[in-house]
Amino acid sequence: MKGLVLSGGSGTRMRPFTHTSPKQLVPVANKPVLFYVLESMAEAGITDVGVVVGDTADEIRQAVGDGSSFGLDITYIQQDKPLGLGHAVLISRDFLGDSDFLMYLGDNFVVDGIDPLVREFHRERPDAQILLTRVSDPSSFGVAELDEGGRVVNLVEKPEFPKSDLALVGVYLFTPSVHDAVRAIRPSARGELEITDALQWLIDQGLAVNSSLVTGYWKDTGNVADMLDVNRRVLEGVERCDEGDVDDSSEIVGRVSIAPGARVRNSRIVGPAVIGADARITDTYIGPFTSVAEGCRISGSEIEFSIVLADASIEGVHRIQASLIGRRAQVTAAREAPKSHRLVLGDHSSVQIRI
Ligand code: TTP
Repeated sequence: MKGLVLSGGSGTRMRPFTHTSPKQLVPVANKPVLFYVLESMAEAGITDVGVVVGDTADEIRQAVGDGSSFGLDITYIQQDKPLGLGHAVLISRDFLGDSDFLMYLGDNFVVDGIDPLVREFHRERPDAQILLTRVSDPSSFGVAELDEGGRVVNLVEKPEFPKSDLALVGVYLFTPSVHDAVRAIRPSARGELEITDALQWLIDQGLAVNSSLVTGYWKDTGNVADMLDVNRRVLEGVERCDEGDVDDSSEIVGRVSIAPGARVRNSRIVGPAVIGADARITDTYIGPFTSVAEGCRISGSEIEFSIVLADASIEGVHRIQASLIGRRAQVTAAREAPKSHRLVLGDHSSVQIRI
């Protein structure tokens, strides 16, 4: 069985981060989302993996390399435009050949891994197998309708009037019959070859599309709120690690992982939290569910339930919450009068100011 990881796309919901970097490389607990995907491929015993890349191909290649650090053999597949998940399958035909394959969206997060799904697929070997989860807002997802026996009878992408609350999770198993499907379907109203249409085509041909329900945690990290929630979930499992340099006037409470080279002075860090290599934390409170990446400088501040990317600096700001702060971003206090906010925000940034 081969693997296909989708790491192209336009990432409009993650702007401004996606202006400068692919969303699949935004770190969760200081590790890019895509790395968790690649690790779970390797854990499921899949080593021959194609990675579909778009405009951000160079950065993805630089971060992932040939895949050997994950125990994978990676082939990059260039998608010229993000024309849909079905299109990604279409252009991967040469790489996939006549193998069964597992397709995994590079921004999706399944905590309990995918081994049970892969085992079930090998046992039953339907023409395709999808993973479903119950959601409160099905209109934002691909939605499945099942018959009484649990077989998928209908699939619709982001329906206005959903027929169930069962949303497609971004992990799919296919036999080569999907190649006929992606060749047969036409672009949807939004101009994409939809994988839901390809699955529906298989169902209409009388082929078997099985489903299983995710019981554990799953998230599509397509927007900032979901990214913060995944960060929270991953940090719940973090182990305490004291490799940094913490002075006697600092207090580290609970499971906090401090990487080598990090320096903590006169600060209080309440876990779960991670502090990256060479970060400097001074006169600061860092609260639960916070990931501070390598090289950050935080002083005289309070921050919790947030992700701070590499080399950002925060100085004299109380209190930052539920925030995603980009690489080399600077957040500082304006001390002199008038009491005003001075903002230098990139395109598509969003800021919430307490008034
Ligand atoms: P989406 O999150 O559905 O699409 P997107 O990346 O274009 O984001 P947005 O809706 O915010 O504009 O994509 C799911 C995953 O599949 C993601 O990792 C990107 C990848 N993808 C491709 O590789 N090729 C494509 O043509 C599309 C649409 C997505």
